[in-house]
Amino acid sequence: MTSPVSGKRILLIIGGGIAAYKVLELIRRLRERGASVRAILTKAGAEFVTPLSVSSLTGDKVLTDLFSLTDEAEMGHIEMSRDADLLVVAPSTADLMAKMAGGLAGDLASTTLLATDKRVLVAPAMNVRMWEHPATKRNIRQLKDDGILFVGPTDGVMACGEFGPGRMAEPMEILAAIEDALRETVLLASPAGVGALAAPQPLAGRHVLVTSGPTHEPIDPVRYIANRASGKQGHAIAAAAAAAGARVTLVSGPVTIADPAGTTVVRVENARQMKAAVEAALPADIAIFAAAVADWRVANEGVEKLKKGKNGPPALALVENPDILATIAQRGEGRPPLVVGFAAETEKVIEHARAKLARKRCDLIVANDVSPANGVFGGDSNTVHLVGPDTLETWPKLPKDEVARRLVAALAARVRP
Ligand code: CTP
Repeated sequence: MTSPVSGKRILLIIGGGIAAYKVLELIRRLRERGASVRAILTKAGAEFVTPLSVSSLTGDKVLTDLFSLTDEAEMGHIEMSRDADLLVVAPSTADLMAKMAGGLAGDLASTTLLATDKRVLVAPAMNVRMWEHPATKRNIRQLKDDGILFVGPTDGVMACGEFGPGRMAEPMEILAAIEDALRETVLLASPAGVGALAAPQPLAGRHVLVTSGPTHEPIDPVRYIANRASGKQGHAIAAAAAAAGARVTLVSGPVTIADPAGTTVVRVENARQMKAAVEAALPADIAIFAAAVADWRVANEGVEKLKKGKNGPPALALVENPDILATIAQRGEGRPPLVVGFAAETEKVIEHARAKLARKRCDLIVANDVSPANGVFGGDSNTVHLVGPDTLETWPKLPKDEVARRLVAALAARVRP
């Protein structure tokens, strides 16, 4: 399958940060897939990677100075930013994001970002305290409202020795976000050729909360109970909500797929952590519970690894996990106005979904037939029914991305004032 980046022109703005070295790998992966890459290296970026290493990989001159007359004569920064299919800022520093949020244009990178009419994807990288500073948070909210897409940052140990959010997403995650952004751009561009920025943003100003993936319920420090959910459907919904302009919080169980562009991802392991993360993320305008939460956990989780012994295998007593969807749907104060659950069924799909809707008291259920023959778990497509108290829509078998887009459009229509 050809990548959505094939034949596309990416304008890459490399900010100043230790993560700049990862961008060299990103350029290689983009070029391997048939994209052409032009790079702007900020002054701070040039302290971390050299123009020569960047240009060797892009196969093109690296632009570093706003006032370089020859470059201006060959192609002005305005044309350059419009000639691209997508602008990618990686690493995106707190300083660059502040400039973007404030509309400043004092150097080539910020001028280009202000002059563009194309989509912009940023991959932030900074110290955890800078990431959590109210000024950075304010700038991020502004950028999201302006339709800027985000990938990462992720949690981890940073070059400065601190731990927490602020690490730039890995090159393959950024690549996946670029592919998503380009797919969206193709979808959003109208046949008349209206640019992507003219795309409707029906969820602008809304906060959408999504759960996704499986949960892992510990048996002891090394073993856990899990299920086959991949997170593909939940992550696609988060991506589609972000593309529709929402601020998105994605609470994800352990998955191997990349973070969707433009979302804030909270990673959890088990159902209790997922519930706490969901409650912490409220208030939300829409909450979509796509996670395959384990219904049970082990009653007495072993503090030490369980050992084999003369007494045979241990008897594992199970207790029920909190039902996150039902808890949120039945909240008095702070209940999101639109609460959407999923129902994985293998028979009497609609009947069971209606019963679940009434029992959990959510507003809509996305019911899918997960009989093994349908290959839904881990697969790329899904056949779903949108079940309301007195409504039913049945959609054909669709790629999970398309299910996500339709679902987001259906929900946006319901929350519109
Ligand atoms: N859910 C949840 N917390 C749980 C269990 C489920 O939030 N502890 C949510 C899921 O995210 C999904 C819906 O509830 O939106 C699924 O409900 P569930 O009762 O688990 O349905 P099924 O998985 O279809 O299983 P069953 O048929 O056993 O009821």
